[in-house]
Amino acid sequence: MRISIFGLGYVGAVTAGCLTSRGHYVVGVDVHPQKVDDFNNGIPPIVEPGLDELLKQAKEQNRLRATTDCADAIADTELSIVCVGTPSAPSGALDLRFVRTVAAQIAGAVRKKNTHHTLVFRSTMLPGSTERIVGEGLAELEKDSLLNVFYYPEFLRESTAVEDFENPSLAVVGSRDGSRPPEPLMESLFGVNASVVTWPTAEAVKYACNAFHATKITFANEIGRVGKQLSIDSKAVMSLLCQDTRLNISSYYLRPGNPFGGSCLPKDVRALMNQARVGGVQIPLLESLLSSNEKHLASLLSLITESGQKEAVILGLSFKSNTDDLRESPMVDVAQFLIGHGFPLRIYDPALNLASLIGANKRVIDTKMPHLAQLLQNDLGAAIGTEGVIIAAQKCAPVEELAKHVSRDHHVIDVNGWKELTQLPSRYEGFCW
Ligand SMILES: NC(=O)c1ccc[n+]([C@@H]2O[C@H](COP(=O)([O-])OP(=O)(O)OC[C@H]3O[C@@H](n4cnc5c(N)ncnc54)[C@H](O)[C@@H]3O)[C@@H](O)[C@H]2O)c1
Repeated sequence: MRISIFGLGYVGAVTAGCLTSRGHYVVGVDVHPQKVDDFNNGIPPIVEPGLDELLKQAKEQNRLRATTDCADAIADTELSIVCVGTPSAPSGALDLRFVRTVAAQIAGAVRKKNTHHTLVFRSTMLPGSTERIVGEGLAELEKDSLLNVFYYPEFLRESTAVEDFENPSLAVVGSRDGSRPPEPLMESLFGVNASVVTWPTAEAVKYACNAFHATKITFANEIGRVGKQLSIDSKAVMSLLCQDTRLNISSYYLRPGNPFGGSCLPKDVRALMNQARVGGVQIPLLESLLSSNEKHLASLLSLITESGQKEAVILGLSFKSNTDDLRESPMVDVAQFLIGHGFPLRIYDPALNLASLIGANKRVIDTKMPHLAQLLQNDLGAAIGTEGVIIAAQKCAPVEELAKHVSRDHHVIDVNGWKELTQLPSRYEGFCW
């Protein structure tokens, strides 16, 4: 393919080098004449292992040139990849000035060329940016079948960028409606196994990944600081933590849904926070966990009140399915809130047998919900009733059973990603998605 690459920085230069090594012809475009000159001489404008050889070889094989002229690059290519910078504005907001400038230049050049062109944004942009930028001057070209636009986030790391480009840790491509790009493009650019989603989802994945990476680093550093305070080898601690690939280094606990609760997580986070505080060690990430969890619960309570329903049903009172442990269960807090706000409340939880509750578990009920027995329904139909907001915290019953009782007058809030609930005739609302 004949490809133009806008922005010859870390991402653009590596993309150019790697695509030429796959046999593509590449025209680099940058506003910096020095970068363009270097590129034209097969010299990388940045330091990146392996890139010198790729550019030198591409130059020798006449598969690489660069220009400052957008129209020249568009006329000479069928596909453009935008890799210009998206820096922070002083407020912290994302500055899309360079992307907008390039998009406007490309729009003019494609209109002039008047043959079909593919445009791929690779610059990191907040969800909704591609849609906005397309709306600002590219949509007409799309309508006239002169342009296809994709968002293709880049996950390479500087210093191993060439290797990462060839063997990406994740390949995701966004199209306007989430439909799969043409096969030749999948094969030559995105990879046949790339996940295809909509533009905003692809944009969001990049931010979620970077926020996750920052969280991992900060978490390890905070464990390190607490470890030092306690004269513990925190590298050994973290190395052992990583050995658990079922709960720790895995997709477990990485689904948006219920706030955390139960007899361990809140208690142990509190104890660790206290330990650090006593030793004068600041661990803002770990200290934020309980307050973030409270905010998560508060947003669920808002959603319940905003439903406008006058009655409420909780499916699953304990902190997770298949247990009767009520200690620090967020749903006990939800129940207390609903009772306090005068909602007639019904609770269905087949794992809960009040008669068998003992010890701390019983104390939760005695202190927080002494009237639980009157609210707990053994019969699903009686619990669901004829109307109200159903807070589906757990999969307490098969959807087919729920379907026998749930009506159009119900409003289901799916707390934990139980997507089959969309099959019910009631209004459906996902909690945090
Ligand atoms: N650097 C990384 O490791 C990395 C990894 C993944 C994603 N990203 C994202 O990729 C994008 C590019 O990052 P980078 O590190 O390569 O940036 P960079 O600053 O190194 O390079 C950007 C280039 O764009 C050029 N440019 C600006 N305006 C232009 C215009 N109108 N026409 C042509 N060129 C123009 C600049 O001169 C510069 O050479 C950013 O959105 C960044 O967040 C970066």
